[in-house]
Amino acid sequence: MLTDKRILMIIGGGIAAYKSLELIRRLQDEGASVRAILTEGGSKFITPLSVSSLTGDKCYMDLFSLTDEAEMGHIRLSREADLVLVVPATADLMASMAHGHARDLATTALLATDKPVMFCPSMNVEMWQHPATQRNVAILAGDGITQIGPEAGDLACGEVGSGRLSEVPAIVDAVTAFFLNQAAEPTTDKPLSGRHALVTAGPTWEAIDPVRYIANHSSGRQGYAIAGALAQLGARTTLVSGPTNMSPPAGVKIINIQSAREMQAACQESLPADIAVCVAAVADWYVANETTSKVKKNGGPPPTLELVENPDILAGLCKSGDMRPELVVGFAAETDHVVEYATAKRRRKGCDWIVANDVSPATGIMGGANNTVHLISDGAVEDWPEGTKEAIGLQLAQRIAQHFAPEAKGEAKS
Ligand code: CTP
Repeated sequence: MLTDKRILMIIGGGIAAYKSLELIRRLQDEGASVRAILTEGGSKFITPLSVSSLTGDKCYMDLFSLTDEAEMGHIRLSREADLVLVVPATADLMASMAHGHARDLATTALLATDKPVMFCPSMNVEMWQHPATQRNVAILAGDGITQIGPEAGDLACGEVGSGRLSEVPAIVDAVTAFFLNQAAEPTTDKPLSGRHALVTAGPTWEAIDPVRYIANHSSGRQGYAIAGALAQLGARTTLVSGPTNMSPPAGVKIINIQSAREMQAACQESLPADIAVCVAAVADWYVANETTSKVKKNGGPPPTLELVENPDILAGLCKSGDMRPELVVGFAAETDHVVEYATAKRRRKGCDWIVANDVSPATGIMGGANNTVHLISDGAVEDWPEGTKEAIGLQLAQRIAQHFAPEAKGEAKS
């Protein structure tokens, strides 16, 4: 999807610099050509030789190199790209970008470029949350520079919080979506502009008492990827999410909930919507005899949990009469007879499409990075090749956009 795109990658000096090597490969897999500038700090983490071996080009480092200036000046370097991608963007690199410093080849190229710039922050949580960094984030946003991440989670410094470099597939996805939008913008509006999309994602937690709950292995990654892709294609997107470690995708309104009943209420309150995509792994039951105090062992028999079936949020959306979204998409997590069971589930729940996936433990899909799905609609089953959850999210969002395209609906073209 990135065929013929030229990306100038600026690799900053952070521990996450090693991920830029994998990123070069993945961007090339999508058809992009990558050139790289390695900062002095970056060269403390990865070598120029690894970079140039992967890019198949020089690893550009020195602002005042006579050979580079003769062969490829910093101006040309920054102009002969379709996109400048800063990864990892350290606090210092972001400060230089925000304040227009030109101290080395990387910052000079960033100042000299007339091309779009995206940056992927990566740093310690305190550095990320520092008011100075946040001021720089605001300046960069004001300058029209696109931010990817950071994500929350375990950081290399041993602390936990926001500041982790986005995963490589998420960066590839954001770059792909950027070019997709760019292609759409000159002639048309974004394909889903004016549409409201509602997405559910993640697990639900069903409380047993104030300290214990029933949950499942859902990471939320597939649902977040779909919400992010729908927003990229122009939909006003509401993401109703159970507890996850994911950062909300850019431009998405997030409603955080815990239980299935809270998820259902949030979905109903978010209507009307044109599109609903129910990706959440909703717990099948809640604990009717939830206690307000912690259950103690007391040496007696184990407590009995009284389970009551949760409301079916997807089926409820399909039955919401006048408020039914025009296109309702469900997911079917199956371990056996995947397509057969999912086809029956689509009919039973009353949704328009169902995305079936095999969640047997051997597939590693539940909680993993990749997915293999089948898209089942009325009378048709499409087998999609395995892809990252971000790639599947984008593909589904594009299919949804096709469904709403005026030509697909038989509307007269203006
Ligand atoms: N779903 C929902 N509310 C529920 C249960 C499921 O909205 N209470 C949605 C899921 O988000 C998914 C679809 O229904 O889009 C199918 O979920 P899945 O867990 O595969 O099926 P279940 O309905 O739970 O059926 P079963 O456990 O019998 O396979």
